[in-house]
Parts: sequence; structure tokens; C-alpha cells
Amino acid sequence: MNQTKKTDFLVIGSGVAGLFAALKLSKLGEVSIITKKADYESNTNYAQGGIASVFASTDNPEIHLKDTLEAGAGLCDIEATRILVEEGPLRVKELLELGVPFVKDSQGNLDLALEGGHRQKRIVHAYDRTGREVEKTLLTAVKENPNIAIYEYHACVDLITPHHLKSFSIFGNVCYGAYVFNANIGEIFPFLAKRTILATGGAGQVYLHTTNPDIATGDGVACAFRAGARIKNMEFYQFHPTSLYHEDSNSFLISEAVRGKGGILRRPNGEAFMQEYHPMKDLAPRDIVARAIDNEMKKLGLSHVYLDVTHLPKEEIIQHFPSIYEKCLSLGIDITQEPIPVVPAAHYMCGGVETDVYGRTNIRNLFAVGEVACTGVHGGNRLASNSLLEGLVFAERIYRYISNENDLSFEREHSQIPLWDKEGMKNVEEWVLISHDVQEVRTIMSDYVGIVRSNLRLERALRRIRLLSDEVTDYYNRTLITLPLLELRNIIQVAELIVRSALMRKESRGLHYSTDYPENREPSREDTILQNKNVFWRV
Ligand code: SIN
Repeated sequence: MNQTKKTDFLVIGSGVAGLFAALKLSKLGEVSIITKKADYESNTNYAQGGIASVFASTDNPEIHLKDTLEAGAGLCDIEATRILVEEGPLRVKELLELGVPFVKDSQGNLDLALEGGHRQKRIVHAYDRTGREVEKTLLTAVKENPNIAIYEYHACVDLITPHHLKSFSIFGNVCYGAYVFNANIGEIFPFLAKRTILATGGAGQVYLHTTNPDIATGDGVACAFRAGARIKNMEFYQFHPTSLYHEDSNSFLISEAVRGKGGILRRPNGEAFMQEYHPMKDLAPRDIVARAIDNEMKKLGLSHVYLDVTHLPKEEIIQHFPSIYEKCLSLGIDITQEPIPVVPAAHYMCGGVETDVYGRTNIRNLFAVGEVACTGVHGGNRLASNSLLEGLVFAERIYRYISNENDLSFEREHSQIPLWDKEGMKNVEEWVLISHDVQEVRTIMSDYVGIVRSNLRLERALRRIRLLSDEVTDYYNRTLITLPLLELRNIIQVAELIVRSALMRKESRGLHYSTDYPENREPSREDTILQNKNVFWRV
């Protein structure tokens, strides 16, 4: 049961990036996708707005590039961003060919929506269910593909690198696959692969309020960091300006496309306020809108503000935002008649595992794609609807790179990779400790490492997170593994990376705002990089 398995390509994660990479790589060999819950459960599934891509005759990639760079607050990698905007439309056409039901107009042209930070209408969408439709179509294609196997309820414990072997590699750090936890039976086995692709998505669960599903616990970044990968710009955690504020359903996403259609943010007395913060008003980049809402809430002592669409035609609201309409109505809010109570919530990890423009990390044979990766296209603040786009574009580039490699073989024999050793591990029934620790990290992150930060708060957060980290490491080292324990270990790891990166950035830029350096942008525009020099695992 804990015997070694082998595959040509191990894809970790089943969102848009993982599924698209798997479909492409299946042309080169056998692909195995592991996903820690049911296959459809991913951040992609919750993406409402759409995919930013140049299709309008009035638009061109240069304008998309300019919008992305401006939102990114001077920190985007220009080469990667140019690739994103130029190759994006080709990948969207592939999705159309696969059958994603993007909305079209009466002439059969794609209906293009507007979102914050975009100067042009360029959001390809399936109303407010874009992510769900993309996920559904890709999953169908994957399931029909005889070269792809999906392992549900399988989680990555750690990536396998030379540190696990008796002898170290003289060729530097290499990834041989992953130790995988089969949650169905509670066993861990080595899954060897010629190439490993991390596509595990983000880490919204590091915060108390997030638009992300429960699975978003930063597993990929945490595993990659432990394996010695370079982790970049983790301080840039994006808060979506508008998540639903409701005691029975906090943090449900209210798409940016709602403001794109004309939604207006208002104070409780009905006054609009975004004109006081940015010339693009409600359609300013996300960091600016989220900070403006945060400021209004603090200034006026509010728990939330309002997003108003009551001035728009009722039929248009219901047609374009069916999920949002239905969700709010189920909670007693008719958005065609009354404004929607909203607050910012953690939404997207702009930093991640550093990659080049072919998804390569600093660990040979390890690639990263989608939200887990930091290709540099989002800089200090991601432009709306560039995330699914990034997953598609760079998944295809990973395939392109690997298809040009001369030597596609296993680096190590079965026998050289140790099996997982659970000798001496006890089944310590301390579930209450785990859930309590998760809650504590999330509270610390929300209180001290949110939209507005300071050195004092960050240092306090770091001290507390390190204490929790020591406790959890000790617990982990003597306990039989469970999925919640793996997730807790990863949440703490990612929280620490966010805080350490935030402390390194001595300026305010994009999503990172510090009251100690309020207006101060460093001229050098440097990335923050963290790399684990003390690699240690339990095997
Ligand atoms: C949204 O619909 O506002 C979310 C899309 C995104 O995060 O880009």
C-alpha cells in the first residue's frame, strides 16, 4: 500500500493550470494528477469574472500590457507579462475549441466585459460562472484522455529531492517526485516522476476571511520552500475589495465584473466615495479599491460598506450575475432592490514559487504554474482576470519546454528512494489542538498582516507564528499524518513566509502598505526572495 508508484509527469493540483498542463503533457507520456479533495474542488471553480484577453478591435496587447504593468505597481517582469498578453488569446481559443461556453453576442463574437484597472473591455466570460465552466470542460477532457489518471484525496506531503537519499546529488537540487498521502487509507507513498508540476493554487486560508475554498492552504509554496525552492514576493497578498458581508455566509465573492457593469461603492448614507481615491473611481486597480474601503471602514467605524447596482436594469443584473443574484437572494438580499453589504477578503497570492518564463523553478525537473507560481506577471498587485490567463499561458509553455528536452528519463531508480518511515509515530488524538492552531494563525494574520501593516505588527505576528511553528513541528514529528495536520503545517509555513517577506520590504508598493514607510517606494524595485537553507525532512 505504501509502495512506490511511477509516472512520467506528476501534476499536483486540479485547477485550470494543473488540468491544462496535464492535457498538454499527455501528448508526451503518462500523466498522473493528484488532488487532495474531489477533482473539481479548486480555486478555479470559484473564479467568477473571467479571463482577460485581447479580442476587441479597439484593443491590442500593448494596452493590456500597460494595464497589467500599471496595476503591478512597477514590479512586473516585463518579458513574462508580454508573453502573457500576447499568447493569451491563443489559449482562450483553445478553450473555445474544447467547448467552454463563453458568452457570445448575436454576431457570434465573444462578449467582452470590463473590470477594474482595464482600459478596454476584454474579459471573456461565462457570466459569473467562468471558472466553473472552464473547470468542468477541462475535467471532461482530462477524464476522456487515456494518458491521464486522476488520484482524488491524495495530497503532497513533501517533494522528493536529493536530501532524502543516502547520497547527495553533485548536480545540485533535483526533484524526483513527491511523497504522497493517500487520505482514503491514511498511507504515504513515494510517487516518482520524470517531471513534477506544482499547480496547487493559493493560500487564502491563511486569513480569517477569504474568497478561497477550504483547500487553499498554500501547500505548493510550503512544500517547495521546504525543498529549497526560491520563494518570491510573498508580501503581496491580494484582498478582493468586494466579498459579501453576511453573518451566515461571509466572504462569498462579489465579482469585480459587477463594478465593471456600473456597480458603485457607497457609504451607509448612500454617498459614493471612490472618486475621492482614484480617477478611475470604482474601477481603479484592486489594491487601491481595497485600501479605500479599509480606510472608510476605519474612519467611520463600519463593519462593511455597500456595493450598489439598483440603478441597473433588473433583467441585466439577473442575466449577467445569476450566481451572485441567487446567493444574495438566498440570504434575503435582493440586489436589484437594495445595495450589497461588502468587505475586502483575502483572494489571491501574487507571490509564490519563483519560475522563469517556461515555469521552471531553481530545482531541476520541478515546475510551478498558476497561483502557486511567481512568474512575475502580477508584480505587486494582480490585474483582474489575469489569473486564469496566467495558468493557461504558462501551462502551455511548460509543455513546450519539456517537449524540446532531449533526455526525458527517471533520474533515480525505485530502489534509491526511501519509502516513508512511520516507525514510532503515534496516533495522537489532538484534533482540537490542530483546529485551535489554524484559527490562531488566521487570526494573527488578519489582525497584523492585513491590508495595512506596520513593523510593530509584523514583528509581533512573526514571534507568535514561530512559536506555533515550533509546536506544530514537534507534533508533526511524533504523530501519524492526517490531512488537517499537513494543511496546518503548510498554513503556518506560508504565514511565516508572508510575514518575513513583508518585513523585508521597506516601502509601500501595490498590495503591501506599511505605515512605517507610507509613501516611500524604493527606486530599485527589488523582489523579495526567501530560500530555505536548512532542508530537513522526516522520512
Ligand atoms: C472577480 O470576478 O472579481 C474575480 C476574478 C479575479 O480575481 O480576477
